[in-house]
Amino acid sequence: MTRRQHVPWKAAGSASEQEPSADDVVRETGWVFNNVTGSELSLAEFVTTGDRETLAYLTAFGLGGVDMPSMSLVEIGSGIGRMTASFSRMFARVVACDLDAAFLERCRETVAQFGEVHRLQTSHVADGRSLQLADASADLVFSYITLQHCHRDDALALVREALRVTKPGGYVVLNFRTWVPQDVLLWPAGKISRLTWRLPSIGPKIAQMRLPARLGWQANRLSPAEVMAVGKASVTGARIFRSPKHRPFHATGTTDDVFEGVHRSHWWLVAERR
Ligand SMILES: C[S@@+](CC[C@H](N)C(=O)[O-])C[C@H]1O[C@@H](n2cnc3c(N)ncnc32)[C@H](O)[C@@H]1O
Repeated sequence: MTRRQHVPWKAAGSASEQEPSADDVVRETGWVFNNVTGSELSLAEFVTTGDRETLAYLTAFGLGGVDMPSMSLVEIGSGIGRMTASFSRMFARVVACDLDAAFLERCRETVAQFGEVHRLQTSHVADGRSLQLADASADLVFSYITLQHCHRDDALALVREALRVTKPGGYVVLNFRTWVPQDVLLWPAGKISRLTWRLPSIGPKIAQMRLPARLGWQANRLSPAEVMAVGKASVTGARIFRSPKHRPFHATGTTDDVFEGVHRSHWWLVAERR
């Protein structure tokens, strides 16, 4: 199935294949992962941005004390390994999953340089909605700035998949995007941008441009209630983490938690698998 939502990632993945070095990949396509641009960027700096976030999030979400050195982690939407390198230093085994196979190749290169590559497995999410991983095979399933980029049905399918592959007693730590006032303009602009990506010959070029890509790739807004409707039977102790700048969500079966490190337009589901 080819989704419009896949276009900018495939375009960035193909662009990354043309680059002569990992540093060049970060200069040319690194902005698709952390929104940072510059001709002096390097893979080392790029990975540092991930290092700063991994433990900070897990600690803020009350998971800093879990026995990471004996645990396995699945990362949905690893990209070129910005956070994966850090995870590979913290966890016994890491499975990096992504829609784009070229990103996974670059991810392996990143982890080889800045992490523990013998702990890494990669897994291609070819259809953008199914993980080629066994049931109950991971202690923690993590996803950051990825589910918001999927077609809504695929994002919910990936939530089901995250729950399927998490062991009983393991955790899901999943990031989503919610509505903010700017969406009055951003949402219709995004729809128009995604339409242009289908135009013959110039569509793929537009999809590689920063502004149209950024407008079009935020493909869904899911609420905690919508995600819990999918997950509530499979989880216990569900916590929703939001920005202090966003009002509480009041989703049944969840507690409301605040962390300053959460972007105003984001929220996280942190829950234990039953
Ligand atoms: C904004 S990047 C974030 C990457 C990484 N989490 C980080 O913070 O650097 C989003 C990633 O999700 C991947 N992605 C987008 N849609 C996906 C899908 N349906 N299934 C799996 N991966 C997807 C993209 O290829 C891209 O690597």
